[in-house]
Amino acid sequence: MIVPLLLLSLQVAPPADEQPVAPYVQSDANAGATPFKGDGMWRAFHQQAGVDRIVDGLVARNIVDPRISDIFKGQDLVRLRRVLKEQFCYILGGGCRYTGRAMRPAHADMGVQHADLAALVENLQAAMREEHVGFAAQNRFLAKLAPMDRDIVKIRGPRPKE
Ligand code: HEM
Repeated sequence: MIVPLLLLSLQVAPPADEQPVAPYVQSDANAGATPFKGDGMWRAFHQQAGVDRIVDGLVARNIVDPRISDIFKGQDLVRLRRVLKEQFCYILGGGCRYTGRAMRPAHADMGVQHADLAALVENLQAAMREEHVGFAAQNRFLAKLAPMDRDIVKIRGPRPKE
């Protein structure tokens, strides 16, 4: 009994080029959405290479976007890109495991407003457009992400211990 509990609470050490984060329990449930069934969405996003380009394009846009760039200053962008790629792959049915934090603790005390989320969604749309993801697939993905707003926008208080 003790051994599985210990395994559950242990984290894999972060890759050498990432900053450590406070301990948390890893779970695919942290991704904040269930995966699409089948491989249709994964193919529509051009599989791992497409998702990698979209996440890189999204982060590149966010950090130069004057509406939201301040929120990304000083953050570990190496980790952000890695876990975002896992999250997108997991949700799109690409079969990845998500090793990042849940959306609520990850965005706690950042003061993200609805307008910030709208700006990020615009940047994601631009990145998906650049990858030539079909419009219907773009919208299905955005609809999966939409309910996460309650865990991202204006979350106050200390990060819960997980
Ligand atoms: C549906 C929309 C969003 C999704 C799916 C999302 C996803 C994520 C993920 C997976 C992480 C990494 C968690 C980890 O490090 O374990 C993260 C962190 C972060 N997100 Fe978001 N996010 C969203 C919206 C936003 C918005 C609107 C902003 C600000 C404009 C934002 C700013 C950040 C920042 C700065 C971090 C780094 C936090 C840190 O390292 O402590 N996110 N997000």
